[in-house]
Order: sequence, then structure tokens, then C-alpha cells
Amino acid sequence: KMDQFVDSLINIMTLEEKLGQLTLFSSNWDITGPITNNNYIEDVNKGKVGSIFNAYSADFTYRLQKENLENTRLGIPLLFGYDVVHGHWTTFPIPLAESCSWDLEWLEKAARVAAIEASSEGLHWTFAPMIDIARDPRWGRVAEGAGEDVYLGSVIAKARIKGFQGDELYKNNTILACAKHYAAYGVAQAGRDYHTVDISNRELWSTYLPPFKAAINAGVATFMTSFNELDGTPCTGSKYLLDDILRKKWKFDGFVVTDYTSIMEMTKHGNVKDDKEAGEVAINAGVDMDMQSGIFNDHLPQSVKEGKVLETRINKAVKDILKMKYKLGLFDDPFRYSNAERAKKTLMKPEFLTASREMAKRSIVLLKNDDQILPLDKNVDKLAVIGPLVHNKRDLVGTWSGAGKWEKSVPVMEGIKNAVSPNTEILYAKGCEFLGDDKSGFEEAIATANKADVVVLVVGEPQHLSGEAASRTNLELPGVQPELVKEIVKTGKPVVMVMMNGRPLTIDWEAANVPAILETWHLGVQAGPAIADVLFGDYNPSAKLTVTFPRNVGQIPIFYNMKNTGRPYDANDKYRSKYLDSPNTPLYPFGYGLSYTSFEYSEISLDKTSMSVNENIKAKITVRNTGNFDGEEIVQLYIRDLVGSVTRPVKELKGFQKVFIPKGESVELEFTITPEDLAFYRKDMSYGVEKGDFKLFIGTNSEDVKETQFTLEQTAPIEEQ
Ligand code: IFM
Repeated sequence: KMDQFVDSLINIMTLEEKLGQLTLFSSNWDITGPITNNNYIEDVNKGKVGSIFNAYSADFTYRLQKENLENTRLGIPLLFGYDVVHGHWTTFPIPLAESCSWDLEWLEKAARVAAIEASSEGLHWTFAPMIDIARDPRWGRVAEGAGEDVYLGSVIAKARIKGFQGDELYKNNTILACAKHYAAYGVAQAGRDYHTVDISNRELWSTYLPPFKAAINAGVATFMTSFNELDGTPCTGSKYLLDDILRKKWKFDGFVVTDYTSIMEMTKHGNVKDDKEAGEVAINAGVDMDMQSGIFNDHLPQSVKEGKVLETRINKAVKDILKMKYKLGLFDDPFRYSNAERAKKTLMKPEFLTASREMAKRSIVLLKNDDQILPLDKNVDKLAVIGPLVHNKRDLVGTWSGAGKWEKSVPVMEGIKNAVSPNTEILYAKGCEFLGDDKSGFEEAIATANKADVVVLVVGEPQHLSGEAASRTNLELPGVQPELVKEIVKTGKPVVMVMMNGRPLTIDWEAANVPAILETWHLGVQAGPAIADVLFGDYNPSAKLTVTFPRNVGQIPIFYNMKNTGRPYDANDKYRSKYLDSPNTPLYPFGYGLSYTSFEYSEISLDKTSMSVNENIKAKITVRNTGNFDGEEIVQLYIRDLVGSVTRPVKELKGFQKVFIPKGESVELEFTITPEDLAFYRKDMSYGVEKGDFKLFIGTNSEDVKETQFTLEQTAPIEEQ
């Protein structure tokens, strides 16, 4: 029925109307890139726009939809898109923070809440999740993804897509998700946004494509091309990525939108001579929708006349877009998402705020806790709360939180005040600003610390230092904050450093000298209460880093599953792969995060030590909570293929379980290792397994693991996942 309906509509459309359906323009309400069109409403009325982004609210979307229906010949409903990246009105932690929860159920719930809110404001489509694997913290967009790991990135991608799209797109509280940015955007040279990407095809397939394939398996409705070039071709013009892989190999049946003006940007990349050629290259490569450059409208009629673009190709793109409008039910009722009454009842409901707080506390990583300073006593006599972020609301919501009601954020001070005993005296000093070199507040901050029994020092990055176009070469705490930290530590008081930032920072000095450190990222509207929950022990931290913390910028890129090299590290041999001025090891490895309790791991036991390609191996391990608190542990399983036709990483995450273990108790966990877990792109790029020996590790992070070994008996092809 859908095909028939859409085909019959396409049959009566003019070429101009078809190109309108392939065009997405921003309203001038909210800006997520350069303005290219001040007359988007005029274009809507002329039928030259099929979708609008950066416009939301039930009233606004209703009004635009009405204009479109009244003024265009065919009255095809507009599709409204927006960057609903981590919550809509109710902001949740930035995606990198959420990923540290390793909590797929909560990740899905967070995306579900975002979809419920966004859809009540007339939105049909989010430009999320960002599923670029990111291993360079200089790149500001590390904040938007799920970190450095392929396996974890893939399962998180699925959870988020499921959350946004729900089980049925026709329900008016589900929205289309968008797998972005396709592909390898996170590998920009030197971490500079939009920069060149040049990696091997093997690396592309092994590391950067799997989350996109996982997105397809999860039924993602749309894909977004990336700004970068790959192997000399801008991804927006890459037939290899868009046609050969996405359509032909992976059978994607949704539609592909470009990133902002990236068709136009091909002239700057230098692979086409002008806008017209850029449009031809993009549509012929497989782009269906042009975001913001208007090139399809302006140039494709001529290209069709010249036979450079076939109308059948345009029809296919129109069909894929109209199918989504159909699935959303827009042809039944174009206004079904724009309902002011529903929005009023939905936005920032108390239960959504509670969900945001839950997600936030699950996202906080305890990096250090000397002498068990944490959790703090709620009855402490005098508590100093110092730092530029103590009362801050604006930055708590983090990057890409356009619709987020940051004014409603609960600052750290408020969270702390509500948590401590009424008898506790709370002292405050700002110390300094985030940025700049003004140290005039240091004296007061030091005096305040000296009066207190314990100091909570809240430092970090303002939200605009991470996200798009926010690359940094220096990853220290910005401004004079590192000096403030040193001065406060010098007082000799017990200090808890609460960090708020959008990427790993280089905190080598702080890690060595500050007794307790909490990585809280940008946690969203409920940051204050969530941080207080952890500070005072109402929640025992369970999150683990999904991205490696380097000691210094010179180590970047640094990630846990590197290759061994022919000259692996040896302290006693000069001619090894190492630095003269820094250890090879990171400050904090992937998978790292402490708890207020401690966990002890037994040795691993296997049900067999040799498997065929038709078998699985079962690995068992017992984890005991040996500390004084109930707690959750994220138990991680890694594998190393010892010999391959091509070299293999020193470890690869292949599974994890998040378990709650009451104090004094143990749980026995079982993991199943399948042949699929051992497969890789072999010498000839075929996907499969190779016989030989494997190491299997289970542990509390990527470095601290128990180890055993098994053998795979045959070499065989394996179907790609
Ligand atoms: O979705 C974003 C993308 O991630 C970066 N450029 C702008 C787009 C639309 O706002």
C-alpha cells in the first residue's frame, strides 16, 4: 500500500516538486552552521522545500506545516528535523557521559524520553545518534559519541536508535533516528574538526564502519554523510560509501541526508569545479537530501536536461523520503506531532527530570579516592565548595542542547545544600573564571578552604569548548584553574575535585596530587543533585571510562586496543616503541572507574579450551564484593588473537555485564564466546576466523584483568554482523 501510494504521488510530481522533497533548509530560529537562506519560508511556499530543521514547538511547526499545505500544489507534508542529541527540554548527560554508564537499558530510556518530548513539539526526526568512533580528545565532538570502542559503540548505537524510534514509527511519540556522520569523521588529522581523514580500508572496515552496520541492524531510518574526505573523496560524494556499501552491501532502505552545506563544500575540498558538479556528484553517489546548500534545487534541473543525472535516480531519492513521511503517518495527519496541549503535559515532566538524574548519576566516573575520602559525611561541620562552576547553570547542559532549558538546571551548590545536614556550614568562593588569567579570587578561595573540614572543588570546561568546531591543542583545565587546584591542594585539606568537561583532559598533576577526583562530564539539567548523590554516598558510582585519558597531548592518539608493534615496550631496552619523556601507558585506561566498594575477581574457568567454528566457549568468573558498600560492577571481557594473517590488536572488548553485588556477596557470571567474536577482516579483506590461539581476559577495566587461553580449531568465513 505504501509503495503504491508513494509511486502514484511521484507520478504526478514535476521535477521541481521532486527536488523540493530532496531539500532541507534551516529556519532562522536556531543556528547550527552558517546561514545560507533567509527566505526559507518563501521557498516552502513555492514547494521548494520538503523538510525543515532548527524549527520546533507545537505552534511554530503547526504554522509552517499549515503554510506549506495551503500554498503548495500537492500539499506534501513537511518533515521537521532537529539535533535532539541528549534530551530535548529535559537535558540528559552528554552522550560521552551517558556511554560511561555502559547501561543499555538506561541509554535507551534516555533516548526514549528525548523522543517523547521532541515529538510533542512537532519534531519527526533527530540528527542523532552520533556513532563516530573517536580516539582523539583534541576533537571536540568526542563529547557527542560513545567513545573509542567498536563493540561498545555498536551496542550503544542500537540502544539509542531503539529509544528514538521505539517499536513503531507510526506512533506519534517516536521519531526518525539518524546514524551520523558517515564515515570516519572522528579520525580528523590532529583532532582538528572537518580536517582530512586518511586511513586504510582495513581500518575503516574494522573500526569505523561497524557501528553504522549496527545502526542498520537496529532499523535506523536515516544516515547523515560526514564533512570529511576519506581516501581523497569527500564522503558526501563517495559512491563507495553511499552506494556500494550502504545501499548495495548493507541494503539500507531509509534515506541519506548530507551534513550542513557539505555538498557545497566539495568545491572547497577541490574534487569538483562548481556547485552544479557538486550536486551531480552527490546525488549520483547516493545522497538523497541536501541539507542547507540548495544545490539540488538550483542545479539539478539542468543536470537532468544534460543527462548527467537520471530522473530515475531522483525518483528513487524522493521515494525513500516520502516513505518515511508515510511511515510517520504524516499523510494521514500532517499535524499529528504538533500538539500544544500534549507538549504542555509532556515537556519536563517530573518523571523525566527523575530519569535525567538517574542517568546522570550512572554517568559519573570515580577516578580517584585516596583514603576513602568519598563518600563525604552529610554531617560534616564545615564544607567549602569552591570553583567557577559551583553556581553555574548554563554549562551543565553541555554541547548540543539547543532546546534544553538550561535555566532550569540545578547547580552543584543547590544539590549539595539539599543533601547535607541542616547543621553543616557551607562556605563558598569562586576562585577564578573558567577562562582568562585573573587570579584575584585565589586569596579568598584559599582562605575559604583553610576554614573548612573538607573542600569540594568544582572545575572544568565551559560547554562551548567541546562539540562541533571546538578542537583544542591544550587539554589542561582551561584558564588558571590548574593553578587554583594547586593552591587549594597546598592547604592540606582533604580535597575532592569535581570535573565537568566534554572530553578527556590531561590531569596528570591533579591525578597525582588531588586525593579524590570525580569525572562528572556535562551531566544535564539534574547535574547538581546527581553529583550530590555520589558525593554523599546515596549512589555508589559505577561508571567506567569509554575513552582513554592520556597523560599528555603528545600521547594522542592513545586507546586501549592498539597493536603490539615489532618492538613492544621494554624499560631496559632503548630501541623500543616508547617515549623518552612520558610513559606509554595512559593516565586512566578504557574501562576504568572506581566504586566506593571493592571487587575481587576469581580466576576464569572455561568449559573447554579448544573450540570448532560450530561451537561456543563458556567462560565463568566469580566476582566478590569485598568492601563496605553494595555496588554495581561492569565486568568486561576482552580477547586477543595471538597470530593472524594480519596483525591483531592487543585486546578487543567482546562483552560486558553490569551487575549489582551486595556487600559481602559474590556472583558467578557466565560469558559465551562465539566464533563471531573472533572474526576479523583477514589478509584478503574477507571476513572470517583463523585457527590458532586466543587469549581471553575478564576484568574490571582494560588493564586490570584475569587471563586464560583457548584455541580455535579451524579457519572459516563468517557472515558479517
Ligand atoms: O546534525 C548536525 C551535524 O552533526 C553537524 N552539522 C550541523 C548538523 C545539523 O544541525
